[in-house]
Amino acid sequence: MKTILSFFLLLLTQTQQSLTYTPLSDHSLKHLIPPSIDPTTSPTHPDPDFDPVTGALLSPILIPRVPGTPNHARVQEHFTSFIRTHLDPSWTVEWHNTTSTTPTTGARQVPFQNLILRRDPPWIRERGAEGEGEVARLTLAAHYDSLYLPEGFVGAVDSAVPCALLLFVAQAVDRALTRRWESMSMGGVGEGSLEEEKGVQILLLDGEEAWERWSDEDSLYGSRALAEAWEKTRYEVGSSFATPLEAISLFVLLDLLGGPEPNIPSYFPTTHWAYQNLAQIEERFRKLGVLETKPRKPFLAEREKEAVQFFRGYVQDDHVPFMQRGVHVLHIIPTPFPPVWHTMDDDGAHLDVPTIRDWARIMTAFVAEWMDLEGYLPAVEAGKPESRYHEKEEL
Ligand SMILES: *[C@@H]1O[C@H](CO)[C@@H](O)[C@H](O)[C@H]1NC(C)=O
Ligand SMILES: [Zn+2]
Repeated sequence: MKTILSFFLLLLTQTQQSLTYTPLSDHSLKHLIPPSIDPTTSPTHPDPDFDPVTGALLSPILIPRVPGTPNHARVQEHFTSFIRTHLDPSWTVEWHNTTSTTPTTGARQVPFQNLILRRDPPWIRERGAEGEGEVARLTLAAHYDSLYLPEGFVGAVDSAVPCALLLFVAQAVDRALTRRWESMSMGGVGEGSLEEEKGVQILLLDGEEAWERWSDEDSLYGSRALAEAWEKTRYEVGSSFATPLEAISLFVLLDLLGGPEPNIPSYFPTTHWAYQNLAQIEERFRKLGVLETKPRKPFLAEREKEAVQFFRGYVQDDHVPFMQRGVHVLHIIPTPFPPVWHTMDDDGAHLDVPTIRDWARIMTAFVAEWMDLEGYLPAVEAGKPESRYHEKEEL
């Protein structure tokens, strides 16, 4: 009975979420990303976030980072110091650490450490344990470990860039989330109403790569452990969601992004609606002339895909342990894979920074629409606050 009830609530929340999904205005889309990454202001300047050599977000990740090595720890430290210095202190940072043997490392227990970065509405946090099971969380994921071999492999698209993108998105929506939740708390809106209990979490997953040869046992070390743990963790009896796994409204997995001309299929009929929202964002951005790339076809070209056309199967990746447990997944990974995949050429030099910046715009807009941030995004037009944004602030 409990299970059925929770399942019903889950469905209810999801229906409501798709109903309240609010597209951003043209104005917001045009001004979404602050000028520091606007190429029109400095077309030849190295990107402050995503330049492979100097970019503050990306370049520290572009080193070999095999689990259990000092470099791996350096990348973890980069994540936590970015979070500490760039994000609102209300984000919670949680590690999920396990160990496992691998076919390559014999009896040695290799550590696998997932980083979970989460932001829920403030009234949820105030309720403590009772609030825990009430929030449906948009969940964005990427893996930060790199292949064991070939030695020196950097894994720029696999998946340093997706990790940097997720940190970028967290920062890009951070203030708008604060503003929206502040104005909702003040107006007494939202609190207790199911549709407003929306949070966002970012999973930086470890141990995605196989050490020797891809198999069920040799791959997905971090995500397998996390999905299993979240299935067993139970919220308080009577919560809207029974487990953290059920509280995932959508699992968006980014992988192999950062190369030119990506072709991202829609893999799953159950989340095709979310794919369509994402594709619509890309199309609107292109029409508005905001995106820098001019690909032969859109990154997300399968908006019109019909139900009967979903036969192609899917790519084995960190979403699998979650999907097997009933989580809805949007997998943002190109098919075919970038040509540099699992070669020494998957490095900073083979990245296409305009493509990365366009992904930053598309993903930021997707999260902003999901979290209903229209009207709360900082305006950047000539350094002048947009009137609407100003009104909200004075509420
Ligand atoms: C989990 O791993 C992280 C990263 O190495 C470390 O900072 C943290 O202290 C570990 N947590 C526990 C409980 O061992
Ligand atoms: Zn890989």
